[in-house]
Amino acid sequence: MEKSKRIFQSVIRFPLGNETLTAGLDLFSSFNDEDLYNKSCRFLHPDEIKTGDGYVSDIRRRSFLHGRIAAKMAVNQVFPDIHPADLQIETGCFGEPLLKNMVLPYGISIAHNDLWNAGLCFPLSVPMGIDVETITGKNLAIIPSILSDYEKEMCSRTENSLEFYHLLWTAKEAAGKAIGLGFRVPAAWYEIDLIESISTKPYLIRQCRFKQLSVFKTLSTTIPQGMLSIAFPAEKNLDQPMISLFEQLFNRFNSV
Ligand SMILES: CC(C)(COP(=O)(O)OP(=O)(O)OC[C@H]1O[C@@H](n2cnc3c(N)ncnc32)[C@H](O)[C@@H]1OP(=O)(O)O)[C@@H](O)C(=O)NCCC(=O)NCCS
Repeated sequence: MEKSKRIFQSVIRFPLGNETLTAGLDLFSSFNDEDLYNKSCRFLHPDEIKTGDGYVSDIRRRSFLHGRIAAKMAVNQVFPDIHPADLQIETGCFGEPLLKNMVLPYGISIAHNDLWNAGLCFPLSVPMGIDVETITGKNLAIIPSILSDYEKEMCSRTENSLEFYHLLWTAKEAAGKAIGLGFRVPAAWYEIDLIESISTKPYLIRQCRFKQLSVFKTLSTTIPQGMLSIAFPAEKNLDQPMISLFEQLFNRFNSV
């Protein structure tokens, strides 16, 4: 992969009442062990490095460290003056990441898999969630188990059903992270009843609306070998800044 296509960083500014709020996104492909060590030393608190090193599973050690680095890099987009290694990210009782020693009311969302890692830093007044998954036929062993009959039918009707399954999956996981409960609640909470194409070129950016969780919506786009979704409040004037963000994302990764 070309170097410029391995990382994407952006600041999202949006109006809320009389204020302009800021969120930060950081997305990057997984590091080799040497780079992971160097970035961990640069971005992580010593206790986070200790926690990561304490995992017996190498896969979990790498995913934990990558996720923490992604979150710190996202915080750095919004607060460049805060030293990332001074902040600590704890795990809440539902598995959610929490910024421990941050005075300002900001939260983070994390996603990691074998190829991609993503961190999103957002104001707590505008809760958000992020998910990224590698698009592979192997995931078809899992995804249908969290889909309703209606959603399965939507997938079977599309030309690229593999991509569509991943669209639904990442949209649901992003929403689960935005509400902080993940899949600890019935899958029906995350039933998607509307998928729209949001861009001049069809199918590049898609928006999902939830039948029950109507206070949130998601935007999604493909990235190399993957699908990325962000969930955010539906009624907070976030559409335009989020669409611009996804256009930047799409252009970065899909330009020739
Ligand atoms: C939240 C959830 C959707 C994450 O999806 P995933 O595909 O496993 O993993 P991802 O890489 O996308 O995301 C992992 C990150 O999500 C975040 N996360 C986990 N639970 C979360 C929650 N309740 N709210 C917000 N974020 C959460 C964490 O930061 C985690 O990374 P970390 O553990 O390194 O800090 C999923 O783990 C879940 O719902 N779990 C709850 C269900 C469960 O554990 N059931 C057990 C009994 S069967």
